[in-house]
Amino acid sequence: MTYYSKIIGTGSYLPEKVLTNRDLEAIMDTSDEWIFSRTGIRQRHIAADNENTSDLALVASRRAIEAAGITPQDIGLIVLATSTPDMVFPSVACFLQAKLGIKGSPAFDVQAVCSGFVYGLAIADQFMKSGQYEHILVVGAEIFSRILDWNDRGTCVLFGDGAGAVVLKKSTAPGILSSHLHADGNYANILSVPGSVSGGKVSGQPLLQMEGGTVFKFAVKVLGEVAEEALAANQLQKSDIDWLIPHQANMRIIQATARKLGLDMDKVVATVERHANTSAASVPLALDEAVRDGRIRAGQHVLLEGVGGGFTWGAVLVKW
Ligand code: ACO
Repeated sequence: MTYYSKIIGTGSYLPEKVLTNRDLEAIMDTSDEWIFSRTGIRQRHIAADNENTSDLALVASRRAIEAAGITPQDIGLIVLATSTPDMVFPSVACFLQAKLGIKGSPAFDVQAVCSGFVYGLAIADQFMKSGQYEHILVVGAEIFSRILDWNDRGTCVLFGDGAGAVVLKKSTAPGILSSHLHADGNYANILSVPGSVSGGKVSGQPLLQMEGGTVFKFAVKVLGEVAEEALAANQLQKSDIDWLIPHQANMRIIQATARKLGLDMDKVVATVERHANTSAASVPLALDEAVRDGRIRAGQHVLLEGVGGGFTWGAVLVKW
């Protein structure tokens, strides 16, 4: 028997506090015009001091579980993508499992930075194909505001906090058609948080640093390539894509990717203006929005794409 993963519920959560570009103008030498014209970002959400990544993940997961019409007890496996865990260990997935009031089923984190959700979905899909689980919860959750250098206007304006989740159900019909993951560790230095915990102290610089121009070019190149790879694997044409949901880093990266694929922007789900870059949470946040507002409908082809630190990138093609 061939099994597929069907996405039967989506959910998301954005922290209450909104930080607009105008708010940033008051605390650093920047402008709404500079940020918006280069990135398409107008605002981002910032987690409260007492919120952890697992708290954001919990709300998004509860919403996805409710939308799926199941209970937390039905979840057989939790895969959670994050680069901003509550602590070094245990994993956020384990905290989330406990907060959902369940125990026994496996739960683990995936660390692929902004590609994390696409990686997590691909991993979950492999488990689903084995037929072992009925329902798998896949989450992307991040509090990037805590790893930003708020004195570096070149990076801190780009990111925000949030979480998104999906429930996968074992199905005999697609579902996820295919997934395509890649990494090239030779590019580790162009986007990193080069700090670690050692001997009871933080060593190195545990704040995000980035070569913006290099990241931009790399992202556009690989998002185009991996989309072509996913289409070729399924003998589909660019025109068969009903919705492209790319990682939400920067509107210019999203537009350049759509251009490469010959897609009109009205086939692209973009939330970067309101969410900024929420790393592993960006794709499930955008997906949830487009599912809930009715844009994504049964039978459509939805292409999810991630790209981020590592460097990592990947695509998951879904028949809704
Ligand atoms: N406000 C005002 N001025 C700024 C700001 C700011 N927030 N940030 C930088 N500047 C200034 C710089 O100091 C520089 O001034 P100078 O010319 O006097 O030295 C000038 O603006 C140009 O700086 P650049 O860094 O060259 O700006 P650029 O036009 O390349 O845009 C940006 C920077 C937006 C980061 C761009 O490189 C980009 O979009 N990169 C993509 C990276 C990205 O989105 N990363 C997200 C994470 S990666 C991922 O998720 C895949």
